[in-house]
Amino acid sequence: MEFNKITAAEAAALIQNGQTIGLSGFTPAGVPKCTPAEIAKKAEAEHAAGRPFKISIFTGASTGQSCDGALANAQAIDFRAPYTTNPDFRKHVNLNELHYSDLNLSNMATQIRQGYLGDVDWAIIEACAIEKVGNKCHIYLTAAGGISPTVCRLAKNGIIIELNAFHSADSKGIHDVYEIEDHPFRKPINICKATDRIGKPYVEVDADRIVGVIECDVPDEARAFKDADPITTQIGQNVADFLLHNLRSGLIPKSFLNLQSGVGSGANAVLGALGQCPEVPDFHIYTEVLQDAPVGLMKQGRVLSASACSLTVTNECLKDIYANMDFFKDKLVLRPSEISNSPEVISRIGVCALNTAIECDLYGHVNSTKICGTKMMNGIGGSADFTTSAYLSIFTCGSTTKGGAISSIVPFASHIDHTNHYIDAVITEYGVADLRHKSDMQKAEELIKVAHPDYRPMLQDYLKYAAKKGGHTHHELAAAFAMHDTFLRKGDMRLTDLAEYIK
Ligand code: COA
Repeated sequence: MEFNKITAAEAAALIQNGQTIGLSGFTPAGVPKCTPAEIAKKAEAEHAAGRPFKISIFTGASTGQSCDGALANAQAIDFRAPYTTNPDFRKHVNLNELHYSDLNLSNMATQIRQGYLGDVDWAIIEACAIEKVGNKCHIYLTAAGGISPTVCRLAKNGIIIELNAFHSADSKGIHDVYEIEDHPFRKPINICKATDRIGKPYVEVDADRIVGVIECDVPDEARAFKDADPITTQIGQNVADFLLHNLRSGLIPKSFLNLQSGVGSGANAVLGALGQCPEVPDFHIYTEVLQDAPVGLMKQGRVLSASACSLTVTNECLKDIYANMDFFKDKLVLRPSEISNSPEVISRIGVCALNTAIECDLYGHVNSTKICGTKMMNGIGGSADFTTSAYLSIFTCGSTTKGGAISSIVPFASHIDHTNHYIDAVITEYGVADLRHKSDMQKAEELIKVAHPDYRPMLQDYLKYAAKKGGHTHHELAAAFAMHDTFLRKGDMRLTDLAEYIK
């Protein structure tokens, strides 16, 4: 090997208290796994010796247990951005033990370049291949684009590579690496269709910036998806019916739209159901996270091409892609997150955004991130990147969760990530609330129709109380969070007595 070979423990020894590491990857896909785990061990040893040790971590999105989980458990994180999904991290962040900045993912690399987040000391990058070409090194990324080009360029102390044999070197070429220029010299991002390529298949750096290379063979820490169930299947069918209605009535182009699909089991199931609906035309995907269902649809020919930031798929699915690169190479492209989620590109090419809500209020404002307004679930991810620029923006959710004890349609969202200005429709298993061309009070009528029947009378009652207060948008603020409050006190929103709050 032409590069300095080191162990993960040697890499971790380089990272000092107070420093910032910038990681490859987006979701657990493509994240370096050996060095973060060793940094967690180092933190524990330092703490045992009575010395402080905390670092800041920047990534494209979330990571897995060996990074966010292990480092949060080791009390080794000072600051973290822009997104996480790890349950252990969630526990620590909701105990307020670390600083977590939940950011729009399209903006992460830009915020680093602008210096808003401070310096990046080290870039730690997972690669499937590295090549020395003259005085340059070409780094071929694995299952995600993320913020790798930016942190590789800006890391003050250099770049540590995890050369992971789990990722086939045959996947070289799947990436299109392009970094946006700084303001005010930004140029248009010249992507007019999902698979247009505008960059290089590798991250190019000066070879002398590679501090060390760790050879390893570690699988991605992919999460399994919950199987589609009757509710997610019905939501998928309702989404398909809505799109077909729009297609027939000419509200969306006959050539159809590029689809974006959000993260999680719900989104995976909805896209799967959509693909199975024969009347939905074959489609292209412009999204941030490609999950298992759309990869299956590519193989069936239902999905014609896909642009994404990461392959957030099960390892079985990932291996299948690697084994069939001849099939996928001209249909699938992975990009840095500032390109996969670029509002400029999304608004140009025409995207139908399909994201999942935690809750939606009667006027169509959506909460994607905070349980009962206070507990962080994951983060906003790329949902706003897509929602704000989409041709058609849809949120889906089951009408209830936790065995019916929580309604997803509430009088007032306990936290708002997406205002109703950007949301065209909310779809549950009970149907479609089409919010276009409607006043706030008309939106409320639509949304009650898609609430669970157990909650419709309560939501109607809320509107009756609220009507007494008048205004363009009716609210009885004393009872606006009665359903949340009842859930927190009694464990079930169905026990809400609105009158109790208004007295
Ligand atoms: N109150 C309390 N808990 C709720 C809730 C609510 N209103 N709505 C959902 N939950 C809980 C569920 O009960 C479930 O809990 P469990 O893990 O203990 O079973 C958990 O949240 C996940 O919900 P689930 O229905 O399984 O949905 P999901 O896996 O499809 O994830 C989001 C839904 C909203 C959490 C997820 O899509 C997300 O993080 N979105 C924000 C980021 C995003 O949209 N990114 C995509 C952009 S491209």
